[in-house]
Amino acid sequence: MVNKIPKIFRGTPLHLSKSGRLNDFAYLMINLPFLCNYKCKKCFNLKNNNFYIQDNPITTDKIFKLIKEARDMNGKAVILAGEGEPSLHKSIKKIVKKIDSSGMMTIIYSNGSTLTEELIGFYAAHNVSLVISFDSFLPELYLKLTGNNDKNIFLQVLKNIKQARKIYGKLIRQENGCRVVRLAFNATVNGLNKEEMKKIKEFCGDDIYFICNPLAKLGNAVGNWDELSLGNDNYKEIEQIIRELSESTGPLTLGSNGLCGYSSNGIAISPAGNYMTCAYTSATDGLLGNVFNKTLSESYAYKKNQEQKFYNTYGNCPCLVRSPKFKTYVETLEKQIKMNNISIYKNSLVQLPSLPNKKYPN
Ligand SMILES: C[S@@+](CC[C@H](N)C(=O)[O-])C[C@H]1O[C@@H](n2cnc3c(N)ncnc32)[C@H](O)[C@@H]1O
Ligand code: SF4
Repeated sequence: MVNKIPKIFRGTPLHLSKSGRLNDFAYLMINLPFLCNYKCKKCFNLKNNNFYIQDNPITTDKIFKLIKEARDMNGKAVILAGEGEPSLHKSIKKIVKKIDSSGMMTIIYSNGSTLTEELIGFYAAHNVSLVISFDSFLPELYLKLTGNNDKNIFLQVLKNIKQARKIYGKLIRQENGCRVVRLAFNATVNGLNKEEMKKIKEFCGDDIYFICNPLAKLGNAVGNWDELSLGNDNYKEIEQIIRELSESTGPLTLGSNGLCGYSSNGIAISPAGNYMTCAYTSATDGLLGNVFNKTLSESYAYKKNQEQKFYNTYGNCPCLVRSPKFKTYVETLEKQIKMNNISIYKNSLVQLPSLPNKKYPN
């Protein structure tokens, strides 16, 4: 039987605003160095299957310091959305424990393949809300979209999802007339999987929050745009599907004002320790200062100011990164950097190593 009480995903802008907790700074998005076992055709963080490498990635101690600064600014949640698969990072448990003990929530994004029963249990016990990317129930298409050739991986992901559902199902709470869930599916809609969205949503049922998103033309998605059948007609249909099916009516990050709360109430950090507009793209990496020369609160204030000027000129948009004027925003930040004579940290693109035949736990 379908539960009539509306679902809400814990830690999101919609959830925080329901309880009056989305006032000013709320989100710190930390990108860990790229490490992933997939090569998704859509991936923001890859470019022609290459990823950005840092010679001196930010240390775990520095990450702990940022977590403390975020807490001191009354932050509510730390988002670990990349770069790559955060669950593969060697310090992931230490970082999650630190966030939890500081009194904030964690939201972790995962492709689902790296989630063992033990890790899911750890996340559940340490205040983590978990977002699993899932774009197709068709094994062949799943493998194609994720750049995999290991057929077992699809079955393993389904098994892991079942396990996550079992553990997280016990954590659902009622709050302000909503069922607050801590497990979500994030599907990115393209011309090849658009027909499947209804089925994926039905699968999510009462206990998994379902979001579907438009593809952003960034990273790997640029070169794969035509293959993902994203011509104009498809794009309009996709927008309609998202409006109808996504439980937030769009991306997970939308607040009750229809704007991205991660962006308007937060700031991202690149693996090199540079502040960024959004964790989903490295386009502003190095353009807002870094953790070695600016505090979190200084950079957040600077970023807010720059974004406000942009919105005053071009109008508000739900997602700055997906806005057709995003390039103009980046160019404005670059001009500021040049005017102030600040040298920009440059990342170097490196070839993804071919991954060993990894054994996935049962
Ligand atoms: C870059 S991934 C990193 C976390 C994890 N590896 C995963 O795939 O979920 C973070 C989120 O971005 C989404 N994503 C990646 N590339 C995208 C694109 N071009 N457009 C829209 N969403 C994208 C993924 O589906 C995922 O939900
Ligand atoms: S979208 Fe996630 S799983 Fe896919 S390649 Fe990028 S980081 Fe890896």
